[in-house]
Amino acid sequence: MTNKILLDCPTPCYVYDMGLLRRTLDALNAAKGARPDFRVHYAVKANPQPEILTAIAEAGLGADTVSGGELHQAIDAGFSPGSIVLAGVGKTDKEIADAIGYGIESINVESIEEIPVIAAVAREAGRRARIALRINPDIDAHTHHYITTGLKENKFGIDRRMLGAALETVEAHGDNVELVGLHFHIGSQITNMEPYRILCRRALEIAGQVESRGFRLRHIDLGGGLGVDYDLPLENPIPDFKAYFDVFAAELPERPGLTYHFEPGRAIVAQCGSLLSTVLYVKRGIDKNFVILDAGMTDLLRPALYGALHQIIPVGDISGRPEQFDVVGPVCESADVFATSYTLPSGIARGNRVAILTAGAYGQSMSSHYNSRELCPNVYLD
Ligand code: LLP
Repeated sequence: MTNKILLDCPTPCYVYDMGLLRRTLDALNAAKGARPDFRVHYAVKANPQPEILTAIAEAGLGADTVSGGELHQAIDAGFSPGSIVLAGVGKTDKEIADAIGYGIESINVESIEEIPVIAAVAREAGRRARIALRINPDIDAHTHHYITTGLKENKFGIDRRMLGAALETVEAHGDNVELVGLHFHIGSQITNMEPYRILCRRALEIAGQVESRGFRLRHIDLGGGLGVDYDLPLENPIPDFKAYFDVFAAELPERPGLTYHFEPGRAIVAQCGSLLSTVLYVKRGIDKNFVILDAGMTDLLRPALYGALHQIIPVGDISGRPEQFDVVGPVCESADVFATSYTLPSGIARGNRVAILTAGAYGQSMSSHYNSRELCPNVYLD
């Protein structure tokens, strides 16, 4: 990376390669192309920057939101209400009312207790709310325990052993809620496709149970979770969407009136975003050498929270032999470390710049003001 803008713009900042984002969206649309019943809803939580959302809406995707804030952002960016879903274990009455007011595609219900609340808000508005039941499929996605969601001990969704009770509650509130779908999500950064195959079979089995009770489903949402290559981002900038959709296409039969939904977040935006940072100090010690950056865990939390490793590359020419450094931020927390014993050129010095890669997903969206730090600005490259 030697683009002049990257050497001149203020740091820390997020840099988005919009060309790569568009190529990623094209690859995704091409990979699902053969199945008109496959609909993709981008998981807004991965990155809700308006420019990013607009590009994704223009590519024809819907939006998966988990708060009133995300719902409004999706509407503002141009997603049509009929292509927006709202999930979340703790929706407020206001969020439910807004979703009903916009007439979104479905509210994904995460507990039996939510059903009468949604029904009451809908009754108040004189409406019948479209809902999908989020069922916890109890499948191990073999990913980091903080980002696995489909195990029965996780807080998300309704335990599938309680499906009967959930359907009874839906029936009891049938005047104000209409069951249109089922929703599943097993976790994030999934690189082995086998859990998805298991999910398909379980989802169809549960759908059969629901329909045998007289409900007619309009959609089955298989969630998100497709992983990206954090180790070799420059070699593999676009995830293998074909391998992903091929699994679902092989497992999920086409049926008139039924669509299958997918909610990728990371796979769409991770590789198009980098966190650009300037070296403040190279601190040489007895046992360790540190590269201290102006970016910290407030800008990119993933290394501190999940022990995630993002590749770090010099921007512009930095000479020298390979040397190991701990690359750290300025925040007053020992966890504010981007990488330990990371190889960078020995000549790295104050004022040099580095790019922390694969930061487009859950980077800027998880940033904070801790230590009263300012939030990063953005640069968009075409
Ligand atoms: N659908 C639901 C219901 C979800 O909970 C999530 C992510 C997604 C879709 C999108 O998942 P994706 O395709 O992006 O993997 N902050 C963590 C990831 C948390 C994911 C939360 N849920 C990280 O930085 O790795």
